[in-house]
This record gives sequence, C-alpha cells and structure tokens, in this order.
Amino acid sequence: FLTSSASPDSFLQCLSAMLPSELVYQQSSSGFTSVLESSVQNPKFLTNTTVRPLCIVTASSVPHVQAAVRCGRWHGVRLRVRSGGHDYEGLSYRSVRPEVFAVLDLARLRGVRVVPGEASAWADAGATLGELYYAVGTANPGFLFPGGVCATVGVSGFVSGGGIGLTMRKYGVGGDNVLDARIVNADGDVLDRAAMGEDLFWAIRGGGGESFGVVVAWRLKLSRVPPTVTVANNLRTMEQGVADLLAKWETTILAPSLPADLTIRVALQERHALFQTLYLGRCSDLIRTVGGVFPELGMTAADCNEMSWLRAMAFIYFGNTGTPAEGLLNRTNSLGTYFKSKSDYVRRAVGRAGWESLFQQQLSRNGNMLMILEPHGGAVGGGNTNATSPYPHRRGVLFNIQYGSMWWGEANGTAAAAALGWLDGLYAFMGQYATSNPREAFANYRDLDLGQNVVGRDGVSSYSSGRVWAERYFMGNYRRLAAVKAMVDPSDYFRNEQSIPPLPKTL
Ligand code: FDA
Repeated sequence: FLTSSASPDSFLQCLSAMLPSELVYQQSSSGFTSVLESSVQNPKFLTNTTVRPLCIVTASSVPHVQAAVRCGRWHGVRLRVRSGGHDYEGLSYRSVRPEVFAVLDLARLRGVRVVPGEASAWADAGATLGELYYAVGTANPGFLFPGGVCATVGVSGFVSGGGIGLTMRKYGVGGDNVLDARIVNADGDVLDRAAMGEDLFWAIRGGGGESFGVVVAWRLKLSRVPPTVTVANNLRTMEQGVADLLAKWETTILAPSLPADLTIRVALQERHALFQTLYLGRCSDLIRTVGGVFPELGMTAADCNEMSWLRAMAFIYFGNTGTPAEGLLNRTNSLGTYFKSKSDYVRRAVGRAGWESLFQQQLSRNGNMLMILEPHGGAVGGGNTNATSPYPHRRGVLFNIQYGSMWWGEANGTAAAAALGWLDGLYAFMGQYATSNPREAFANYRDLDLGQNVVGRDGVSSYSSGRVWAERYFMGNYRRLAAVKAMVDPSDYFRNEQSIPPLPKTL
C-alpha cells in the first residue's frame, strides 16, 4: 500500500482531488507560513534550516483526515499530526531528517460536546485543554477533567502522552480518564474503541498517538468536583529556609494521611520556590489539612482563593484572579522565548542537604533555569493502573521534575549554547537523586537527547534503536507498545524520530 519512495506531485494531486482547495496550504501559498507558525511554541523550530512540510492540510472533518491518510499512503508521503502544537521537539510540524512529509493540522476540528449532568464529554482531537475546561466548567459545572496547567496544550497530545496535572493524585493521569476514542488507522478507516480493540485503545492512552494513527475524537471521563475549590500560592526564598521546606514537602507526598484532594506542586527558580496548592474543597479544610501535614509552610487563610474549578484553572494558568475564564479559549501563541526542556522522576527523597546544594550550586547561579516538581502518589501511585494506560511512573514515585532553560535572541549561537550548557549541568547534577536503570523520563516532555529511532533498509524503525529512549518513557510497557504497533501499522507509516517501532516477528 505504501510506495517505497515519495511522489510529492501525485500526493498533492490526490489531495486536490479529494479535499476542498482552501484546506490545503502548499509552500507557495500566501498563508503557508502563518498557518505553520499558528501553534508553534518555540521559535527554535522556525529557522532557515528547519525541515518544513511539503504542505499543511487543515482538516475540519473526519473525512478530510481519512483523505489525507489515504493520499499519504498511496503516494508515499508521511503525515505529521498536529493538534495543540506543544510538542517539546516540534515533531508535530517539523522533521529532524531531510524527508518529504505533510502536516495534518487538526486545530479546526475542535468541538467539545458536554451534556449537563453526564460524567463524560466528547472532545474533537484539535481542542485545547482550555477549550475543554471552559466547555465542562460552563455546561457541566459539577464536573472536572484532570488535565494540566497550560491551557493551550492540545487534548490529543496531552492524553496520548499520559498527561500529568494538579488533580492526578485524585483521578489519575489524563490517559486513565479516556472512555472511548475514534482513530483513523493506516488504511484510512475510522475505528471506535470496540472496533480498534483493547490493545490499541490502551496504547493511545499514554503511548503517544503519533505511532498508531490519527485520533479524531476522545470520549473523556469527567469527575465530580465540589462547587468551591481553593488555590493558594506561597513563595519562599533560600533565606526563608526553602531547603527545609522542600525536604518536608517530599516526605508528605506518599504519607497515608495526605488526602488525594490536596496537591502542592512546586516551581523552583533562582533563589526561591513557589508552592502552588490546589485543594478540592474549602479554605478552612485546606488550612486544617496543611496545618496537620506540612505546618512549616505557614499557609494561612489569607493565602486562600476560593472559587469554582473553572476559575481555578484560569487562576493557575494566568497567575491572577483578574483574567476571566474566557481567557482559557485564547489559542494565540507568543514566540518570544527559546527554551529546552528535560525531565526526571524521583523515588527517594532528595533531603535537606541535596536541596541546599541544588540552590547553591545550580539554580541561584542562573535565573533562566526553572524546575517544576509535580507530586505523584494518591490515585496515580496505586494499584495496577498500567492496565488502563502505558504511563508507567506510578507506584513509589514521589514527583516528576520538568527542567527548563530559556534564552532570547537567536535559536543557535552563544546564548543558546550557554543555556543548553546550564541545562546539561543541572541534569547531570540531579542524576544522583533521580531514578536510574533506567533514568525515567516523561513522554510528554519529549527530549531528543535521549535518543532517536534508526530506520532500517526495509524502511521500518528498528526496535532496538527505540529501546534506548522508549524504555525511559515507558519502561516495561515498551515491548507491549511495539507489539501493538506491529499489529496495527507494521509498515511504520505513522512515525517520527521517537515513535514506537513495530516489534520484530522474531522477538
Ligand atoms: P502537538 O500537536 O505538538 O502533538 C504532540 C505529539 O502528539 C506529536 O507527536 C503529534 O504528532 C501527536 N499528536 C497530536 N495530535 C494527535 C492526534 N490527534 N492523533 C495522533 N497523534 C497526535 N504535559 C503534561 O502532561 N502536563 C502539563 O502540565 C504540561 N504542560 C505543558 C506546558 C507547556 C507550555 C508545553 C509546551 C507543554 C506542556 N506539556 C504538559 C506537554 C504536552 O502535554 C505535550 O507536549 C503534548 O504532546 C502536547 O500536545 P499538543 O496536542 O499540544 O501537541
């Protein structure tokens, strides 16, 4: 079905025969650059040397997606699928290798259907988390979806990569909260959960959507939320004993006395730590609970902001109470800051001395580095939840770390080299505290430093090259993901530099 070499002209002719012309942007089209850049988050991937797509298909219906897949397979042109565009390595719209490909952009396919009182919602693949939160919070205010902080992240990338956030301690990761999905497979057919089978349905809930097909819609599980939740921000500096606070914070995470309704994530930068709290209840209960498990934080009623869950998501994202919930619908990107991210998991407490030296030797020396610590435990830490999602970082995990290093000016050059050097130093320093064998990493914080697939002479990504990076994202679940890939896409049509290769028949 897939021709061995790409025929770009035939592919474009196929698209023009099967799709309205206004949906397809070729490189020569006047709108090509603005559509390409519309959801890019990092200007690093918009340089003269970036390998750009042959064209962009802006599908607005499922038949458009099917047509793009069929044309791609008939004429040997691969698709990069883009929903929210937040991929940390830009793999939804650029290729690292010099290959011919097209972008299938789903931003126009983004309806969210919510029925008041029902504990589920359908979200089209191109919806953002902010659009989902707004639809749920306005039409079904007794419910929430356990998503992440950044409102412009796509539902599809979030859920298909696992998806961590401030309510996962209560409800699990994003991938645990999917009830059904519709996927266009490598033959261009649309399959729902019953038709795709439980193995593929498991794989797309945390194993990365890009390896298996194009998800066009998700049926998401919604969970009950009280009418009032509480958010609080507590900023503490090195001078205020932040190392002591972090040493206490990390010992509370797996404590049986810590309710899953309470999440305190921490952002570290320069000489301070911001403790960001979301509590699924009223301020008075929060103060009592924090006072019992973590009195050293010194949280008082004056720190509390009581509001609806929807308003809380806006507060946490925008950092103020003034921006209305409608702000969550804004998809506009700003391309001012260059950045590179990496991730870790911690299963053994870092300890006071470790936190102290992290600030002394690393963070306080460069204000452009950031660490975000997402506590696990609760629902995400218990039970055999690998049954629902390939997200493997569960039992015994204290917290996930996201590292970020920022710079300004140009993509490459001295500022970039310095920022990347700082980040490498920080990552090396944290090696003594992070997990090892493998050093776990989060699939949604994609990092090409961990490795890239090697494509064999048969045109298929090799399983052994995938092990290098994929066992860090998926641990023991890599093999099962590769078996699913071999079943649904053995010719490896849906692939990028870090997609799941098919499991060889001999293994
Ligand atoms: P994008 O469209 O770039 O797609 C990401 C990957 O998924 C690509 O490989 C793409 O091909 C594939 N894909 C997208 N749509 C698909 C579809 N419909 N079918 C099949 N494959 C598809 N994560 C997290 O868990 N918690 C968080 O709090 C945050 N916060 C955060 C903040 C910021 C500023 C950024 C830049 C990123 C995050 N993330 C995150 C990471 C984020 O979840 C991750 O990058 C997601 O893959 C982004 O999904 P998008 O749809 O936006 O990306």
